[in-house]
Amino acid sequence: MSSQSDSNHDGDPDAAKPRKRDLRVLSGTKPTGEHLHLGNYFGALRQFVELQEEHDTVLYFIADYHSMTTVRNAAERRHNTRMVALDYLAAGLDPDRAILFRQSDLPEVTELTWILTSIVPMGMLERAHAYKAATEKGEDIEHGLFTYPVLMAADILLYGSHRVPVGRDQKQHIEMARDMAQRFNRLYECDALVLPEPYILDATATVVGTDGRKMSKSYGNTISMFAARGALKKSVMGIVTDSTPVEDPKDTQQTLFEIWSLFASVPEREEMFARAAAGGLGYGDIKKELLTRLMDYFEPMRARRAELEKKPDEIEAILRSGAERARLLARPVLEACRAAAGLGAAPR
Ligand code: TRP
Repeated sequence: MSSQSDSNHDGDPDAAKPRKRDLRVLSGTKPTGEHLHLGNYFGALRQFVELQEEHDTVLYFIADYHSMTTVRNAAERRHNTRMVALDYLAAGLDPDRAILFRQSDLPEVTELTWILTSIVPMGMLERAHAYKAATEKGEDIEHGLFTYPVLMAADILLYGSHRVPVGRDQKQHIEMARDMAQRFNRLYECDALVLPEPYILDATATVVGTDGRKMSKSYGNTISMFAARGALKKSVMGIVTDSTPVEDPKDTQQTLFEIWSLFASVPEREEMFARAAAGGLGYGDIKKELLTRLMDYFEPMRARRAELEKKPDEIEAILRSGAERARLLARPVLEACRAAAGLGAAPR
């Protein structure tokens, strides 16, 4: 079976072109144990969850094999993996619509990794940003880091994915996956592998951190998504502002207003900006108001997460069912690759 021709709209004039709903969308996240922050949510997670509304096949996996280059403790990996599942389910990923699975539940991906490893040019991997950065720093790296893009390509290609929603920093990896697919198909004269395309998440959704730079763990300027009120209050009060006195008009082109706007409708925003421009509104009051909005916004997700946290068996069941559904998509692709490459018994 060719995974590229799995659309069947009889009499549909657009039959040759897969409709949005027929596109397979896949993305993954490495379980690093980091707490999700507003940047992760507005910059990626929320956009990803929205994709399940308009696509039939959305796959989301927890890349525990990928975490092996950095995490060297079994309990920690399991814990981090469960945290990612909790975060995504709490944020609205619907396991009935999206396929949520753990990468290592489909060890088939390592077979495809070997198949691709055997055709990928060294030069391509040597040009990978992560590898270049590590070697330039003179770090002693493992082969796994060098091969990271091949495993990532296998992740994408194994499920016949058409679209891969990622941040801009991952674009090169998707292009490499596309190159590898093309190379395999050409060398073995087949169409076993679908050529994926990056689907770059809206960069304007980049959230500024409390210090005005891009919100990022490495800058220590994050506002956590699921933190308790006390911790959130601390982050919000720490948002940098200029030193305009309370009674003076405020410049609304600054961090505090930008973060506040994430939680407000357009009319609410206009009203707030008008009040700020008029003067008499203190930054402390705006911060208090932001804290309330922040708490209210994430409260349903926090509650859902707390509920799920009490049910580890349910999480396991979701991941297991996800793996089964993912396998249904993976099998034909892997079989086609094996057949094309002459691996295993000849197909009858
Ligand atoms: N490399 C990605 C990251 O660090 C995670 C990832 C692994 C991924 N495999 C993938 C993302 C396949 C998309 C598709 O964020």
